[in-house]
Amino acid sequence: MKLSVIGCGYLGAVHAAAMASLGHEVVGIDVDEAKIAKLAAGETPFFEPGLGEILTQGLESGRLSFTTDMSAAAGAQVHFIAVGTPQRHDGTGADMTYVNASVESLLPHLRPGDLVAGKSTVPVGTANRLAELIAPTGAHLAWNPEFLREGFAVKDTIEPDRLVYGVSDTTGTDDTATLDAVYHTAIAAGTPRLVTGYATAELVKVAANSFLATKISFINAMAEIAETVGADVTQLADAIGHDNRIGRRFLNAGVGFGGGCLPKDIRAFTARAEELGKGESVAFLKHVDEINLRRRQRVVDLAVDSFPDHINGHRVAVLGLAFKPDSDDTRDSPALDVAVRLKGLGADVIAYHTEAIPNARRAHPQLAYADTLDDALTGAETVVIATEWKAFRDLDPHTTRDKVARPVVIDGRNILTPTTWRDAGWTYHGMGR
Ligand code: UGA
Repeated sequence: MKLSVIGCGYLGAVHAAAMASLGHEVVGIDVDEAKIAKLAAGETPFFEPGLGEILTQGLESGRLSFTTDMSAAAGAQVHFIAVGTPQRHDGTGADMTYVNASVESLLPHLRPGDLVAGKSTVPVGTANRLAELIAPTGAHLAWNPEFLREGFAVKDTIEPDRLVYGVSDTTGTDDTATLDAVYHTAIAAGTPRLVTGYATAELVKVAANSFLATKISFINAMAEIAETVGADVTQLADAIGHDNRIGRRFLNAGVGFGGGCLPKDIRAFTARAEELGKGESVAFLKHVDEINLRRRQRVVDLAVDSFPDHINGHRVAVLGLAFKPDSDDTRDSPALDVAVRLKGLGADVIAYHTEAIPNARRAHPQLAYADTLDDALTGAETVVIATEWKAFRDLDPHTTRDKVARPVVIDGRNILTPTTWRDAGWTYHGMGR
């Protein structure tokens, strides 16, 4: 099939390359010339395992191309809207500028029978509004949310755990058949596919992210209690996680969630619910957000308290800058936030990450960044682990001890074994353990 993907950020770039890998002819379109030039040259604009390979294969096969020219969308059977919906600068709602602009500029290139498939995470009600805009062209609209996780984005796109099609007529229209043809491999593999109305499809996405955020904040709330009574939240998570109604995944207590999705999605959902007069229904999401942000402060407090005097001038190594492992994404990253807060308190912060330093440096040039893990550790008086990156998980407490000035570790992701580190002479502080 001929497809266009409007917006070549995280979602769009992965979607375009993944669709080409399924055999479709795909054009990726974005207004950002630098991003398009990179993608067209086969360079991934961000760190994502496996993306480089399918990008190169797609370009070499001739099935995948990138352009800033919206007219290249003409002739595609399906146009995916994959632009960002960041948090508004003047509030907590979603900034719809890019969605609105991309649909407006796509309109002149739509033909009767084309399908516009929205993938961006949007406030419920958006699809109805866009469908009215599109209707005069004779094209249709479907809402087809994306559930990819950074770090697993290629696999999640090619082998999703479910497909959701929000369509205007749920009684089995051509739009469902069109999307089935797009996702033919997943359909053939028996992937669950749910056909819903627009509002349900829009809500599925924010509900899923809200649930995940709530699950993380739940365990972080338990961590707060555990800290007070001397319990171990990791053991607690293991114990409740064995109940498969609860499940162990997303019950890792630590410095909390961040990234370009969970934080802004729960805030936008709250803002939208308030607009609808239903703020009360999701008022708990404000607590979810607050619990989450408190965990960042907890790590900062532990670092401050690790010095008998003031933290001012003391060397603190912050290991990890991205919001999660296998990513260079520092958007709303708890790790970067902790580093910045400690620096703000006068600590001599040295930050390290294998992939995320360029992004972190762009946002926070005032921080000092180490070239190597050894450089970060050498002379550190307190070590803060802020991202659960494998290299940090694998640190050896004995050899690491020889590098630091003072063996104090704050395990902001609960990835180290406390007894092993304590036995090696470290003062160990975990999160809720
Ligand atoms: C999230 C969702 O998991 C995806 O399903 C969704 O498609 C995506 O947002 C999106 O809306 O596009 P992602 O932002 O890649 O994906 O990150 P997650 O894997 O969900 O992790 C979010 C944050 O929670 C990270 O900072 C992570 O470190 C933290 N986390 C995760 C915890 O603190 N504890 C856990 O147990 C799990």
